[in-house]
Amino acid sequence: MSATTPIDMASQAEMDEGFEAALAEAIDRRRNFAIISHPDAGKTTLTEKLLLYGGAIQQAGAVKARGEQRKVTSDWMELEKQRGISITSTVLQFDYSNTTINLLDTPGHQDFSEDTYRTLAAADNAVMLEDAAKGLEPQTRKLFEVCRMRHIPIFTFINKMDRAGREPLALLDEIESELGLIPWAVNWPIGSGELFRGVIDRRSREVILFTRAERGRQASEQKLSLDDPELKDLVEPELLEQAIEELELLDGVGAELDLELVHSGDMTPVFFGSAMTNFGVRPFLDAFLEMAQRPVARSTSEGPVNPLRPDFSGFVFKLQANMDPRHRDRVAFVRVCSGRFEKDMTVRLARTGKAIRLSRPQKLFGQERAVVDDAYPGDVIGLNNPGMFSIGDTLYKGSRVEYEGIPCFSPEIFSWLRNPNPSAFKNFRKGVNELREEGAVQILYDTDQSKRDPILAAVGQLQLEVVQHRLEHEYGVDTRLEPMGFQVARWVIGGWPALEKLGRIFNCKTVQDAWYRPVLLFKNEWNLNQLLEDHPDLKVSTVAPVVSGVEPISL
Ligand code: G4P
Repeated sequence: MSATTPIDMASQAEMDEGFEAALAEAIDRRRNFAIISHPDAGKTTLTEKLLLYGGAIQQAGAVKARGEQRKVTSDWMELEKQRGISITSTVLQFDYSNTTINLLDTPGHQDFSEDTYRTLAAADNAVMLEDAAKGLEPQTRKLFEVCRMRHIPIFTFINKMDRAGREPLALLDEIESELGLIPWAVNWPIGSGELFRGVIDRRSREVILFTRAERGRQASEQKLSLDDPELKDLVEPELLEQAIEELELLDGVGAELDLELVHSGDMTPVFFGSAMTNFGVRPFLDAFLEMAQRPVARSTSEGPVNPLRPDFSGFVFKLQANMDPRHRDRVAFVRVCSGRFEKDMTVRLARTGKAIRLSRPQKLFGQERAVVDDAYPGDVIGLNNPGMFSIGDTLYKGSRVEYEGIPCFSPEIFSWLRNPNPSAFKNFRKGVNELREEGAVQILYDTDQSKRDPILAAVGQLQLEVVQHRLEHEYGVDTRLEPMGFQVARWVIGGWPALEKLGRIFNCKTVQDAWYRPVLLFKNEWNLNQLLEDHPDLKVSTVAPVVSGVEPISL
């Protein structure tokens, strides 16, 4: 048996201290966020400008160009191209101003909101992007609700100020009255649309002037003090006066900027700018880095886990198959929550207790990958997933932890998925199982074992089309969809025993989810309410409970 000398112990303590300091420093340098917006508000454009500052791309237009390239390298992205929509989520990591930024990109189409919900589970901050002419739009409101549930700090960027828009005060009012968030304008616009002249930085009392450039070209940003006499030659006095009056109004009636309220998701710093002309993007990024929440403690079955916990832990928030059809690979995206992740590390999977060596972790930038040697809280790594991970799975070293799972949201469209060609059953089975694991769609099963066809349950019709398209192009099977005419699904709290107590029930169909749990399908809310009235003891949920320790049903 080897004895530990006091000198060994001292050097171990020094090493531990060194490690802790390095970990604390790495966490302090990290910011992670997702953009929530309605399609067309300018998310792609803003992302591109942010990446330009990070030096991650060299030229404007590269995100779209990258998108085009990507679309031809992957079959199912072909569908994105045909429909002109963005379905896939990617993670973009870049360095700016001595900070490592992880931008979690989310699909723009509302039929893929479930994917966005999962991405938001991995985000520490959200940027809410609004079109100045439209204000809050349906998809933004929906995503905001998810941020609210998770108390994610929200930073608002009001875009397209170079075009005629709504009154800035009205836009702030809308945020306050409809979302219940306290807006705090970090800068204030001088004029708008044709008369947009720039913004006043509320904290530094500086004016950043906007000089109109040709469409798509970068506008110049000249800075002047609000007291600079030259200002009156550059901006119409009445526009400046109006902006100053409005600012005084805000100072008089509005709350003070309070970072605690920002971090609890109750106050939102608001920025005005124009992503297309690259006006106000750099000031936004600088202020965001200063105010955003660093990676924080996250809830687990054992209470909150601090990112400074020396042992690595993280959770899977997204699975994606066939990102690159040349490799037919599957990637599990893991959000690092504590400690340092190192290549070749052996970790445990909390759901099954299995030990797994993570030998080829990847960093992904859109479609490009590089092997990563280490990663820190707030980062996202991609793991090759030979079918062992499920969404919500926790990976850890040291003592066991299990992060709060990511709930499935209630689907609204249900359809039998038929395989008309029995000889293709093997591929059909593989495709259905893999797409279920990935969470591309939820799969329900008839309780009658003789009816083997799966039921696809989705939030939007397009999600079903993507599944069909992918089955055809990635697994070589033609399928038929047969709509079921239900619109509402509820999980039964208490499972099968609770359901059996009710005896016979009417106007609903009982099916099971992939975790053998009963799900009730209804044609409409009215039928659901009727059942709940008839059986006051019955408790149902719109969100599937999180599972642990069970292998899912496969076809
Ligand atoms: P999305 O990802 O949120 O769907 O939006 P995207 O960035 O694709 O922008 C949607 C449209 O809004 C694009 O115009 C884009 O150029 C325009 N846009 C984005 N930011 C601004 C802005 O600050 N000012 C103005 N005036 N327009 C902006 P498009 O005509 O659909 O495409 P494109 O031909 O410009 O590429």
